[in-house]
Amino acid sequence: MGEESLARVAVLLSGRGSNFLSLHAAMERGEIPARIVVVVSNNSKAAGLTKAAELGIPAIAIPRRRSSRLQHDERVIEVLRQQRVEWVCLAGYMRLLSPAFVAAFPRRILNIHPSLLPSFPGLEAQGQALSHGVRLSGCTVHLVDEGLDSGPVVIQKAVPVEDEDTEDSLAARILIEEHRAYPEALSRLLTMDWDIEGRRIRWQPATRGPASG
Ligand code: GAR
Repeated sequence: MGEESLARVAVLLSGRGSNFLSLHAAMERGEIPARIVVVVSNNSKAAGLTKAAELGIPAIAIPRRRSSRLQHDERVIEVLRQQRVEWVCLAGYMRLLSPAFVAAFPRRILNIHPSLLPSFPGLEAQGQALSHGVRLSGCTVHLVDEGLDSGPVVIQKAVPVEDEDTEDSLAARILIEEHRAYPEALSRLLTMDWDIEGRRIRWQPATRGPASG
């Protein structure tokens, strides 16, 4: 597929960047009709930024410093506009987006969260699941709305919670599924016809090029 027909994706991250790398690898394998045109982080020390730079992808730190949430988001939006970004993938981006950000990319922002939403939104989702004593957890890829880890679910993958699990062992088991779920979700959104009915995404079977959604 020619570069021009690939959807232009921005990845926003705050840390390690393993989900960014799994998306990038799936694109390189031709499994998602998209390419990552910029990686942005609120954390200038994020390992994910270094990895992006090593891959030759523009990697831009935009620390919040003393700016308001809105001012910060406006700076990020400006960078994304400069790069003609069509889709935004949050991948361990530890900031809640302002309504202005959500409105700037309607139905085009995705997030991955390490729990089966709507259970355990927010921080330390794996620890929340463990302390609650659930026997199943997993990950959720969802479209982003103005709430915290709310928004229509695209894909979920479940994993068992074992008796001997620690937060780290559960997080590692979930992460394996995250790396499958995120590419699968983005690929679906880009190649299938879909619409949103209430909270539900309704999929049509027809496959085609990048979706207008
Ligand atoms: C992932 O587990 C992701 O689901 C989580 O942060 C981690 C980032 O890892 N995101 C959230 O908790 C958002 N609420 P990564 O930097 O290796 O992709």
